[in-house]
Amino acid sequence: MRKISQICHSESAKSGRRISKTRSFADAQDDNRGVKDLAVVILAAGKGTRMKSDLPKALHSLCGRPMIWHLLDKVKTLEPKKILVVVGHRKELVQKELGPRVQAIRQTQQLGSGHAVNQAAQALSGFNGRVLVLYCDTPLIKPGTLRALVRDQQKKNSDCSLLSAEFSNPFGYGRIRRTLDGSVGSIIEENDAGPAEKRIREINVGCYVFRSKKLFQALKYVRQNPKKKEVYLTDAIALLAQSGKVSPVLSEDPAEMLGVNTRKDLSRIQSLMQKEILETLVEKGVLIRDPRTTVIDADVKIGGGSTILPNTVIEEGSRIGKGCRIGPFARVRGRSRIEDGAVIGNFVEVVRSTVGRGSNIKHLSYIGDAEIGRGVNIGAGTITANYDGKKKHKTVIKDKAQIGSGTILIAPVTVGRMAKTGAGSVVTKGTRIKDGAVVAGVPAKELI
Ligand code: UD1
Ligand code: CA
Repeated sequence: MRKISQICHSESAKSGRRISKTRSFADAQDDNRGVKDLAVVILAAGKGTRMKSDLPKALHSLCGRPMIWHLLDKVKTLEPKKILVVVGHRKELVQKELGPRVQAIRQTQQLGSGHAVNQAAQALSGFNGRVLVLYCDTPLIKPGTLRALVRDQQKKNSDCSLLSAEFSNPFGYGRIRRTLDGSVGSIIEENDAGPAEKRIREINVGCYVFRSKKLFQALKYVRQNPKKKEVYLTDAIALLAQSGKVSPVLSEDPAEMLGVNTRKDLSRIQSLMQKEILETLVEKGVLIRDPRTTVIDADVKIGGGSTILPNTVIEEGSRIGKGCRIGPFARVRGRSRIEDGAVIGNFVEVVRSTVGRGSNIKHLSYIGDAEIGRGVNIGAGTITANYDGKKKHKTVIKDKAQIGSGTILIAPVTVGRMAKTGAGSVVTKGTRIKDGAVVAGVPAKELI
């Protein structure tokens, strides 16, 4: 089993361009232009047998989003003309995650990566540009790296530019076999590699930019691998290499190139991705007190000047404004919106709710399906009882209201502007507290 610590950075320069860590980062920052005549094919038809799960590998969750989402999110930044995803195993489930601009291509039998790419031949028959082929199980590749690979293909006018990386433990990956002059000869899979080939540390990442016509021409000549009875995409590269127009691009950040084949790989890649998400937020001006205990999903957005305190979980597309304070021990989920300057304190859960600018929910509260205005104070231990056993109901709390400690709001409930509830009030179902009114008791009644 490969370990991150086993992966070393290559020192030896081979022929082929290198993409350095800093370069791909810089690319991601400042080069946001689309690439001309680009189509993308993502392979996601495999069952992912080694994951020991019936869920297609493309749908396993990484930092809150399915693996395929991460790939699509990255390739969209290249503004390709077409995005095709090859689906097979439980295709309906995968198709649901693709969104409107992405075309699903069916592979009825999983007969190998080459066979999978070939399913896209018809959809690309009139297309004369370049095709970026990616595997759905390599989710850490950065957009800047993809762009650099596309540029390499354009610059060299290669039939195929492919990403490679040097792993100190290359077990399980296809190895790049170089010829004496340093150019790519072929790619040999683990199963077919002899002892000498198994010692090759330069691996095939599974990310390629082809000239479309050349790719589909070569695939016509690829035969089944005799051991696995699959048609390997990597064998098409050996054919293209015969004309000497395969350009290897060696990455200097091998961690970016890790593939997910097992659940162990998934959890390792998830922690790398989580680290990256937190680092990106910190770069944007968010203070994260303890990254080791902070969990933030890939689709969460947080404004600058906000502070995230330890043991906090922010999930499911939630948005946090600027200058907010979240945690410690807070959970924000269900696409909640926390506006600028709001405080979500210790042991507070907020789900499917909006919390207005400058409002405070500082201690021990559950806020579900609520719309909370600006400048509201929610006292310790307040609960929105939003679920009646069948349906969820809404709680509306208008600007500058003050909710006393231990208030239970049995939704649907509306609390008017600047209204107050006494400590321990139970506001019963269907109540509308008028603006400025003060209520208290069980059930809560208006004080005169
Ligand atoms: C593949 C490469 C290997 C490379 C490694 C990088 C081949 C033959 N080998 O090996 O050189 O080092 O990735 O991670 O390509 N798929 C389909 N339909 C199929 C078979 C596969 O869509 O019939 C998809 C899978 O869903 C997956 C991708 O193709 O996304 C790669 O398949 P996988 O079985 O994971 O290949 P590896 O053995 O990892
Ligand atoms: Ca794989």
